[in-house]
Amino acid sequence: MEKKETYSNLLASLDALLAEDYFEISILANSSALLMEMLAGVNWVGFYLLHGDELLLGPFQGKTACTKIPVGKGVVGACGKTKEPIIVPDVSKFPGYISCDEATESEIVVPVFVSGKLYAVLDLDSDELNRFSKVDLEFLDKAARIIAKHLEKI
Ligand code: SME
Repeated sequence: MEKKETYSNLLASLDALLAEDYFEISILANSSALLMEMLAGVNWVGFYLLHGDELLLGPFQGKTACTKIPVGKGVVGACGKTKEPIIVPDVSKFPGYISCDEATESEIVVPVFVSGKLYAVLDLDSDELNRFSKVDLEFLDKAARIIAKHLEKI
């Protein structure tokens, strides 16, 4: 199956999974679990939630991680500041990269907007260099919109 077709099925599964869910933590927890289960070569998936000028660790799958990232710091904080997605093909080359797991080689972050405001940063790590492509970014952006839709219905 084409990657795009797999991703389109995965988005439908995510939407269905969240359909009857009206609790913020369950929505985020199950979303991170589904992404972790379905995506190959990913060692961490989770949400950093915007609280004031910090991004705080929310539901995730993977090893324990840094709990507090100031907006503007690291990859997550850069996304929090610019409100734009970022693909980091090689984390060793990203200025100010915050290392949570030595095995991580590449990373992608996508902003999640709820009711038009930045709510969280969706963060995925990989132990492979250059794991995340534009196709992954498009998919994760759509996933973030589905998650936001379900948070907005609460
Ligand atoms: N590497 C991130 C920190 C979060 S972890 O990857 C889970 C960063 O530089 O912001």
